[in-house]
Amino acid sequence: MIFQLSEEHLMIQQAARDFAQQELLPGVIERDENQKFPAEQVKRLGELGFLGMMVDPKYGGGGLDAISYVLAMEEISKIDASVSVVMSVNNSLVCWGLETFGSEAQKQKYLVPLAKGEIIGAFCLSEPEAGSDATSQRTTAEDKGDHYLLNGTKNWITNGSTASVYLVMAQTDVAKGHKGINCLIVEKGAAGFTVGLKENKLGIRGSDTHSLMFQDVKVPKENRIGEDGFGFKFAMKTLTGGRIGIAAQALGIASGAYELALKYSKERKAFGKEICNHQAIQFKLADMATEIEAARLLCLKAAWLKDTGQDYNQASSMAKLFSSEVAMKTAVEAVQIHGGYGFVKEFHVERLMRDAKITQIYEGTSEVQRIVIARSVLQ
Ligand code: CAA
Repeated sequence: MIFQLSEEHLMIQQAARDFAQQELLPGVIERDENQKFPAEQVKRLGELGFLGMMVDPKYGGGGLDAISYVLAMEEISKIDASVSVVMSVNNSLVCWGLETFGSEAQKQKYLVPLAKGEIIGAFCLSEPEAGSDATSQRTTAEDKGDHYLLNGTKNWITNGSTASVYLVMAQTDVAKGHKGINCLIVEKGAAGFTVGLKENKLGIRGSDTHSLMFQDVKVPKENRIGEDGFGFKFAMKTLTGGRIGIAAQALGIASGAYELALKYSKERKAFGKEICNHQAIQFKLADMATEIEAARLLCLKAAWLKDTGQDYNQASSMAKLFSSEVAMKTAVEAVQIHGGYGFVKEFHVERLMRDAKITQIYEGTSEVQRIVIARSVLQ
């Protein structure tokens, strides 16, 4: 077992770090404050190849492994989790799903521009009354021969208004339960498809989260991904990889908060010495460093399993569960170490604390991860 990154991995990590420092840090507070979608930054992300990192170069991607993806997600999330969620959804949920299960025509039409970052995509599973309980889909895709008629509402959709391509899960045959669900590719601008208001969120405020409404939207049959009834499995398999991305996002939020707290603790003096020389602060820093390292190892292990073609279902849920808990805990402690300064925006840690919370909720709550892990260990 070799705990060492390759030269190529280190280069990708450095490239992501430089990009985050130079192009994401300026304006991150204002984007958060004003809920401004990072359009220019996402465009640059595409130009640098971060939106289709793992896609085969023949479809316009970077052909990199999941370890590279984890490293890049961590670096970008240290600075701006509103940008990294766009990156995560596009890479893991949209590009990976299309590349792995899409037809050649779907790949040429949709995957190529998505992987090149010319457009971004959205993954539409959650509904007003179907979040964790994802089989309870109410959106319907009625089979009309050469097309489906799509009706229903989706909730909490990342890239809701900025995406050009939407992967929408819907019930075709309710009697078949999850085996009656299909995933359809819906294009922005389809007649009957409307985007609801932007959610005013606690964290990741720069990303655009919307509800989506579908009323008698005609979707051609060739836009169904996989066989009839494959939609739920498509969603589950895609989310399994997505959880590695969100785990890495959480890891980045944690390490970003920790680095800021460490730096501050060396500068701030109290009771005659830098606060890092007080044991109360040292114990916090030691716990943060240890937990972040454990989270990083879980993320990299899940990515390695994926890269080597092994089962990564349990590992991705473990990585997401643990990293998101570490993100929340570390960010709260980072605010505490900053004292009053931690409570104001200029010091960044309050934003990281708000951003951390969503990592325990989206792409499966911590409770969902525990269900997945428990089922796996009890098999
Ligand atoms: N891979 C492949 N197949 C899987 C699977 C996986 N990881 N997980 C489940 N399945 C299959 C099962 O094998 C089963 O198939 P069979 O009937 O043929 O055996 C089928 O799917 C149903 O599985 P379950 O009986 O386990 O389903 P369940 O109703 O008990 O639910 C669950 C399991 C894990 C709770 C699941 O519903 C789940 O993951 N819920 C959370 C959904 C979620 O993560 N939503 C996030 C929304 S997307 C998002 O947040 C994106 C964003 O914008 C940031």
